[in-house]
Amino acid sequence: MREMPVIDLPTVVRELAESGKRVKVLWQEPDSLAFFARGREYRSEFHVNASDEFTYMIKGTMNLHFRDENGKEGILVSPEGSTNFMPGNVPHSPRFPPDAFALILERGRREGEVDRFQWFCPGCDSLLHEERAVVDDYRKDFVSRTYSNFFENEKHCTCKKCGNVMAMP
Ligand SMILES: [Fe+2]
Repeated sequence: MREMPVIDLPTVVRELAESGKRVKVLWQEPDSLAFFARGREYRSEFHVNASDEFTYMIKGTMNLHFRDENGKEGILVSPEGSTNFMPGNVPHSPRFPPDAFALILERGRREGEVDRFQWFCPGCDSLLHEERAVVDDYRKDFVSRTYSNFFENEKHCTCKKCGNVMAMP
């Protein structure tokens, strides 16, 4: 029989707060991927992936920035105790503080799927840089990896259109 975990969320909140980690994967199956996330005060990129995404704000408020089909930025405000739905392939940037916690449900990535992480110029809103990753295991914390790749290379952070340099938040 397969494992059927029952997870005590207050314990996960304590674990994350004490360890300083941002993500704890609760389970990871082809059709169901659940993780618990603490906010990242520096979150600035837009994540694009094919999976629908369901979020439940356990503590604190999330400002869920997104870009519509014309690239125009909008913000969904999801307060504590609310849940929200983000369809697949919508560029989204979940912004919430490190003392806020969210439960997020997606699905595992299909064969050949590539996640994209995009930064836009704070000056003129042009695409600055895109990181790509095959997200085969959520425990590897690809979000943290892509931030290092982006901010450690000044070329990536410099706008080719207006010359603005995006600073590490
Ligand atoms: Fe620019």
